[in-house]
Amino acid sequence: MTPGLFDEAPTPYAAPEAIASGAVLLRGFALDVDEALLQAIQKVTATAPLRHLVTPGGYTMSVAMSNCGTLGWVSDRSGYRYDAKDPLSGKPWPAMPACFADLALRAAAEAGFDNFHPDACLINRYEPGARLSLHQDKDEGNMAAPIVSVSLGLPAVFLFGGLNRNDRPARYRLVHGDVAVWGGPSRLAYHGVAPLAEGEHARLGRQRINLTFRCAR
Ligand code: SIN
Ligand code: FE2
Repeated sequence: MTPGLFDEAPTPYAAPEAIASGAVLLRGFALDVDEALLQAIQKVTATAPLRHLVTPGGYTMSVAMSNCGTLGWVSDRSGYRYDAKDPLSGKPWPAMPACFADLALRAAAEAGFDNFHPDACLINRYEPGARLSLHQDKDEGNMAAPIVSVSLGLPAVFLFGGLNRNDRPARYRLVHGDVAVWGGPSRLAYHGVAPLAEGEHARLGRQRINLTFRCAR
């Protein structure tokens, strides 16, 4: 049996699940808007293609990335930063789709963070084997605003640690439609994604797509 095909009975959203002070999982929160999100992702990535960025240390990331919104997160040999322009095209990133902004606002409010109006959305595409090592989201100018993270496609193991790199992270299985929100005392928590397992998602095939919404300015 193909892993991932038959074990994903989507659970409709019920209530926030606290994972740390200021951090919650909203399981199934994005399920009822998944088609709109996927169509918007198609549109954004047709203009600003997913690409494998290079880290300042010279490694090519296994996760492919793109952005929408007024700012986009980029990495190259000179460092990490937010940039108003896509370095591939030299043009502004595609605008934030209304269905993205709406979901991010509602998810943040559900987690206790009102008036969340992100100016940046990083789109991450994982294929089996791709991973994101433990890191803090600390390039944003606004640390009062949370991070809202939406999972689509294949399941992943999300690692969520503490404020010190050495804190052993807890592991949470995130599936299609799940949303994680971290802010307040957890805003700078270390987090990452374990290597994606092989699988075939009914709608997205052999990939996981993650959206993270940030107030970068
Ligand atoms: C991120 O930390 O930017 C992405 C997290 C994820 O893919 O779940
Ligand atoms: Fe992150």
